[in-house]
Amino acid sequence: NLEVNTTKTITKIQPTMYGVFFEDINFAADGGLYAEMVKNRSFEFETPLMGWTQPNSDTHSFNKQSGIATTIKVLENKTNPNFCRVLINDDKGFEMINEGFRGMGIKKDAQYNLSLKAANPSGSIKKIIIQFIDKNKKVLGETSITPTAKEWQNYTADFTATQTEAKAQLKITFQGTGTIDLDMISLFPEDTWNHRKNGLRKDIVQLLYDMKPGFLRFPGGCIVEGRTLAQRYQWKKTVGDVDKRETLINRWNTEFAHKPAPDYFQTFGLGFYEYFQLSEDIGAAPLPILSCAMACQFNTGELVPLAELDPYVQDALDLIEFANGSITTPWGKVRADMGHPKPFNLKHIGVGNEQWGPQYIERFKVFEKAIKDKYPNMIIVSGAGPFPDGDYFDYGMQELKKLNAEIVDEHYYKNPKWFRDNVTRYDNYDRKGPKVFAGEYAAQSVAIASPDNKNNWECAFSEAAFMTGLERNAEVVYLTSYAPLMAHAEAWQWTPDMIWFNNLEAYGSANYQVQKLFSTNKGTDLLAITKDGKPVIGQNDLFASAVKEGTTKEVIVKIVNTSSKTQAITVDLKGSKLQSKGTVITLTSPNLEDENSFAAPKKISPIESEYLLKNNVAALQLPAYSVTVLKLKMK
Ligand code: AHR
Repeated sequence: NLEVNTTKTITKIQPTMYGVFFEDINFAADGGLYAEMVKNRSFEFETPLMGWTQPNSDTHSFNKQSGIATTIKVLENKTNPNFCRVLINDDKGFEMINEGFRGMGIKKDAQYNLSLKAANPSGSIKKIIIQFIDKNKKVLGETSITPTAKEWQNYTADFTATQTEAKAQLKITFQGTGTIDLDMISLFPEDTWNHRKNGLRKDIVQLLYDMKPGFLRFPGGCIVEGRTLAQRYQWKKTVGDVDKRETLINRWNTEFAHKPAPDYFQTFGLGFYEYFQLSEDIGAAPLPILSCAMACQFNTGELVPLAELDPYVQDALDLIEFANGSITTPWGKVRADMGHPKPFNLKHIGVGNEQWGPQYIERFKVFEKAIKDKYPNMIIVSGAGPFPDGDYFDYGMQELKKLNAEIVDEHYYKNPKWFRDNVTRYDNYDRKGPKVFAGEYAAQSVAIASPDNKNNWECAFSEAAFMTGLERNAEVVYLTSYAPLMAHAEAWQWTPDMIWFNNLEAYGSANYQVQKLFSTNKGTDLLAITKDGKPVIGQNDLFASAVKEGTTKEVIVKIVNTSSKTQAITVDLKGSKLQSKGTVITLTSPNLEDENSFAAPKKISPIESEYLLKNNVAALQLPAYSVTVLKLKMK
């Protein structure tokens, strides 16, 4: 028998309690959320023609080839130096094919917007035919461009797919002979999130939107730090005209990734402006994390000398101006020129990702001083190093406490049992010390980032059990997020991941369903739920938390049954009189190994039904391995 005191608020729950953590890992940006379908659209990958083939160009017998595509590097063009020069020798129809990101997903009757830049100096190339083809070269949609200008010019063309195909490719055929130069060959579905031209994949954003996340952390992760300092994420290079954003090798395209992908680069079409815009679209507070002048310590760990931190600190200050500054400030103007004169209302900024040791602390101090001097109300998120069971972590925590750090980011990738066993992790955290950002966590069914990890139900309900502990400690836990957020089913480097997608579809894992259930029922006020006066932290394999939602005047009780048996319980709701008609939501699956999948995306998903309450005491049958949310309106 459990008891809830419905009248006494223990603490307020932060609107940021449950959020999402975006990192460009697993093809989450290019090839994922960013709906661009052409891989290596501006020929800037390390191998400049990666992603492109020329099936009827036999480079070994020059006499026979009907044409050839090569790339030219213009060094004074610093951010986009390469373009493609195509020489067409005969009228046999020289072709270039782009393979997309493990193919291109096209949908019957959907429209696609193509754009490219071309210079046709001799005017002898009469027409460029653009087609979707399948693996048998069957044409699945077609359009054409007439490249009239001798100088560089933008061309656009729309076309419709005649068939749904997960592995289409883009074929470009040239009519006429001579030379033509091409750059930024880009293709987007017309139907993007919020109908933005060249925008984000609608189905994936919808999954995020449905979670009602309290914040969006971006752009990572280790990607912030870079394998080397030169390869760190530099936000200033990701704003402004898309074709001027400099391509960078992705940090997960290295030997340090569990499944490195040699074709993984960042074009930054999804850059900081787009991240802020996405945050706004999904109602999430933006939470950018910036380099703290230390490269990833799991890789090279390069450090910027303390005396040379200025440009890094300036990046942080300028970012705040970019997000919040008036349009008369230099960076506020950049934002306005991109289409958002109103500020983005940035309140948090993160300094460093998973850095640790004295080197981090001494750098953090410099950032903190500069940011607070100029923007005293900006809330700074710091880190104490990865994985809260090492000496470094303890050192970081102690030092950050001395500095009165506001929010410290903790990461844990542990087995499911750890999550059940650590539900009291924050019960004794100093309420006067730094607040907690549980910024990256996920139960690992095999081992951290093992390629064999599964998004199985045991992992998901163990996280749910742990999350009742996060919620019970809302006084000190201010932000939380599962990690990583998403993965391309054919191009991932890390498992498990919350959302899986291919080029046509996306689904939320069981872990997603847990996150969504908590996030959409987070409430505004924490209440006490007890058994014999003690918190429900594993007695009879049950874990629980309770909240009140001020706007809807609802009491919301969450109970996780981690046992293999159905359990009958009662919840005595003491205090406010409650309406008899309520709602019960159950998320359950019979087997620990059960998972959602492309074939059964909703196998593990919540079932909602009406609940009838008698005399303020709720009787519930909790299925084996289940998460139950009971919602009751106050009279
Ligand atoms: O989420 C994957 C990686 O795990 C992140 O990039 C890093 O912060 C952590 O080590």
